[in-house]
Amino acid sequence: MMINCTINGRRYQFTVDPRWSLMELLRQQGLSSVKQGCSVGECGACTVLIDGIATDTCIYLAVWADGKSIRTAEGEVKNGELSAVQQAYVNTGAVQCGFCTPGLVMASTSMVERFRGKRLTEQEIRRGLAGNLCRCTGYSAIVKAVQQAQLLDEETPG
Ligand code: FES
Ligand code: FES
Repeated sequence: MMINCTINGRRYQFTVDPRWSLMELLRQQGLSSVKQGCSVGECGACTVLIDGIATDTCIYLAVWADGKSIRTAEGEVKNGELSAVQQAYVNTGAVQCGFCTPGLVMASTSMVERFRGKRLTEQEIRRGLAGNLCRCTGYSAIVKAVQQAQLLDEETPG
């Protein structure tokens, strides 16, 4: 089947097997930030934004992406600069082995963009990221990263 979609701001046309997950398609395109973890929608390692909504791509068929706008962690780096969320993850030491990080960054990005103008509580952040598992950090640094990302995002022009 033929699909048209936008990935990180560029338009693409793909011929896809109707059984492929979007995770398979994106990884085939070299977008290795889309991690293959559990493959059953439990760990969040494969999270990208689809029309702004954090989505587990292992349980989302590639054909459903027709007409959609997809963002992955690769596309968040603009002119060599990390996004506010990516920078906050670095600043707060919320990255250890890094396997969960791209998915968490995208889930966090969705929250930061959705709740602009509202300061999220720790509980809201933890609830918002409940679908993304991290074996290393214990989550405290991740919560701090999202809090800092909200501040950096406010300071970012445009
Ligand atoms: S690999 Fe998709 S949720 Fe775990
Ligand atoms: S940093 Fe290792 S799984 Fe999260």
